[in-house]
Amino acid sequence: MALRTIRELGDPILRKTSKEVREITPRVRQIVEDMLETMYADNGVGLAAPQIGILKRIVVIDVGEEQEEPYILINPEILSVSGSQTGHEGCLSVPGKSGIVTRPNEVEVRAFDENMRAFTLKGSGLLARAVCHEVDHLDGKMYVDLVEGDLVDVEDLEEAD
Ligand code: NI
Repeated sequence: MALRTIRELGDPILRKTSKEVREITPRVRQIVEDMLETMYADNGVGLAAPQIGILKRIVVIDVGEEQEEPYILINPEILSVSGSQTGHEGCLSVPGKSGIVTRPNEVEVRAFDENMRAFTLKGSGLLARAVCHEVDHLDGKMYVDLVEGDLVDVEDLEEAD
């Protein structure tokens, strides 16, 4: 396992479209392990492979709460969305910043796990937000494109609470 360097907004790799994973190789397993380690080290709730400079359709998510294990989503495909939620969002590729983004409140996503078994995940609230945010990364989309108003410093938000 190894910590990877997180690419930051402005790095052109974050704007590229990632490729599907065709098979689970030792390298893919290593990427997943490194993504988890890197996400937890930075206290993130999700990370997409392009954020560590790898253009593969791999996402990891751990929103805590009722979730016992992190979700590993390989080649995720959003099947349906419903409802909406408006709230603060951040990204490890935009450190120290936060902005208001409207997202679906419920999402159903189909993906493959680290053994290439297909599964469907339904999520609401923070999990739905995280799924949409991370899947966007695989298509070169960043939450800053969707922000309503200005990005703010996370420190200022914490002081206001
Ligand atoms: Ni992000």
